[in-house]
Amino acid sequence: MLNYIKSKISKFRKKIYNPRETDEYYGEFIGSLNFWKLLLWNFLYFEKFFFMFRNNQIKLFNYFKLRIKLRNMKESEFKQRLNFLNSNGYLIIQDYFSLEQINSILNDNSDIINELKSVDKEISTYRRFRGVPLNQNLVNIWLDDHLINLMEGYMNSKIYSRMYPTLNFTQCTEESSSKKIYENPKKAPKTASYWHVDYSTTMSITVFLSDIGPSDTRMQIVPKTNLNLNTFYKISDETVEKKKIKIVDCIGKKGSVMIHCGNVVHRMKGVKGSNRLGIHYMFSPGTNIALDVDFISSSLSKNYDLENLPHNKREIVKGLFPKKVRQGYNIKGQNILFNNFKGL
Ligand SMILES: [Fe+2]
Repeated sequence: MLNYIKSKISKFRKKIYNPRETDEYYGEFIGSLNFWKLLLWNFLYFEKFFFMFRNNQIKLFNYFKLRIKLRNMKESEFKQRLNFLNSNGYLIIQDYFSLEQINSILNDNSDIINELKSVDKEISTYRRFRGVPLNQNLVNIWLDDHLINLMEGYMNSKIYSRMYPTLNFTQCTEESSSKKIYENPKKAPKTASYWHVDYSTTMSITVFLSDIGPSDTRMQIVPKTNLNLNTFYKISDETVEKKKIKIVDCIGKKGSVMIHCGNVVHRMKGVKGSNRLGIHYMFSPGTNIALDVDFISSSLSKNYDLENLPHNKREIVKGLFPKKVRQGYNIKGQNILFNNFKGL
């Protein structure tokens, strides 16, 4: 009964938000960049707005708060990068990690990478390995102080790792468009090749493990859309084209780093026959932590000792690798809470 009511409300909200199909809004591609349409959506889907509000992640508020903080910060490379990230919702730092560090990642994980590259599929797809075995080199890249500080500055919050380090090999067999996906959903690529946003409260980092040029398979971003109160719907190519904003190609040499806000509009732009390899991390203010025992096992398969991490870094990964608690945990319905009972 409850599910029936929920589905009726959901259909009703969708109908009010988008009453009819047009050249711009069709099928699942009803996400928008139009201010009034987004305002209506947030009114109808108020619970998503409150989720962001509760987590201090209304991006436009944070944008102005950070503008004030930046004014009082002394000139530095950090300030310039934070300012760019705040305004655009993404940042690419060219050649951030050394080739030595990147080659270590490639060598340490050569079996996994060869496996990812060996499965040839007929459809464009991501081939992912989650829970890459941790060692000091990988941890140095994953929990890099400068990148963590940039993300905390942008989010105006402490951040936590929400996903285990993931190797991602993207294979592109066919170029795609929103119209093609709409007209032939069975042949749709298994990659996020359409314009979309991720969870609004997350930040992603991709470290390029291969050179990515302007005519390769790459990510594209619509800058400044991080400040919108975006919907969770896919966005058509026509909607983005109509907006006439300059689209940014996320390109760089091996060792470059890309940070992007989960709330910025982006897509994977596939180029037939061009593949890419990267290592991917996600962070959040403590929301949507993807705790998984299989990935814990895989991450620690080379016996990396997390307890030797500095306190602040052990804190960042505590959602993925819960700490030992002296008095154990209590189960309360669906929740597992640590026991903080203080006896006499
Ligand atoms: Fe995405």
